[in-house]
Amino acid sequence: MAKTVLITGGTGLVGMALVPALLQQGYQLILLTRSRQSHSLPYATHPAVRYSYWNPSSAELDTDVLTKADHIVHLAGANVADKRWTAARKKEIASSRVLSGRLLVDRLKEITHRPLSFVGASAIGWYGADTKDHPAPFVENDPPDASFLGETCRQWEESTAPLTALGIRRVILRIGIVLSRKGGALPEFERPLRFGIAPILGSGKQMISWIQLQDLVTMIIFSLEQSTLQGVYNATSPRPVSQYSLMKALARQRKQFFIPVPVPAFFLKVLMGEMSIEVLKSTTVSASKIEQCGFCFQYDTIEKALPIC
Ligand SMILES: NC(=O)c1ccc[n+]([C@@H]2O[C@H](COP(=O)([O-])OP(=O)(O)OC[C@H]3O[C@@H](n4cnc5c(N)ncnc54)[C@H](OP(=O)(O)O)[C@@H]3O)[C@@H](O)[C@H]2O)c1
Repeated sequence: MAKTVLITGGTGLVGMALVPALLQQGYQLILLTRSRQSHSLPYATHPAVRYSYWNPSSAELDTDVLTKADHIVHLAGANVADKRWTAARKKEIASSRVLSGRLLVDRLKEITHRPLSFVGASAIGWYGADTKDHPAPFVENDPPDASFLGETCRQWEESTAPLTALGIRRVILRIGIVLSRKGGALPEFERPLRFGIAPILGSGKQMISWIQLQDLVTMIIFSLEQSTLQGVYNATSPRPVSQYSLMKALARQRKQFFIPVPVPAFFLKVLMGEMSIEVLKSTTVSASKIEQCGFCFQYDTIEKALPIC
């Protein structure tokens, strides 16, 4: 019988790439959404897709859908990059992740059914910046950074930790910058290139640990299906690039001449506020752990990744 995957945050960038990939492999899907208009959402009329309303902030969730889940993929959370980090937005970024994780745990405690696996999103915001004191790539055992994102990731991961004691195999993917032209950071980097301009943020030397969207989708499905996987894994390609190299690769792929335009760090701080720390931060993250578990990146270099984004 076809297995059922319950997905939270399935209407976002990652979810909307994951859904067709799971359908192609014959899974049935239940998508939890805060939308009351789910009939107008993508795949709403697909016979193997069902939407179910939930709202983590008011603890609304139809527990019955959990009894049908063979696997859970938890992607939900307020977007980190689309609004300025005011105190209210920071609260929403953190609480949307923590409350949704806790709600899933609390409701699973109320029932006897146990999904085979839980795959939860986290982010490489867990890690601090590359420094002389930390020259090696960050690995999963490194402690969380004492920043807003580091603390958010810590609470986010912690919110679903009790699942292990419930006997559910739990995998956490610390996701890097997802590369796709359908959303996220890449269209923002690429837009100025249309005018022949490549903004170089700060020194441009900061390392970006990225993952191509399709590789992330494959890794999520790999995590669901490989019963030997358990715990935290970095979801970043094995070859991070500097921001300058990313702009160069983008221009090369577009067969385009470009003028590098330095954007000073102080200007970014005025423009973006606290969020500027994240675009200026250099974070080199290791992909070794997931590779040692047998995961093969199809798009392991930026040159392979960009054309299919
Ligand atoms: N994209 C990246 O570069 C990247 C990098 C690192 C980590 N991640 C993490 O991976 C996950 C998926 O990323 P994504 O790019 O697909 O995110 P996304 O496009 O922003 O979508 C996230 C989904 O979460 C739900 N959501 C939004 N605000 C919420 C709130 N306040 N409470 C509960 N649910 C809320 C929404 O679904 P409904 O409106 O249907 O409820 C939305 O479609 C996210 O948790 C993200 O932080 C992404």
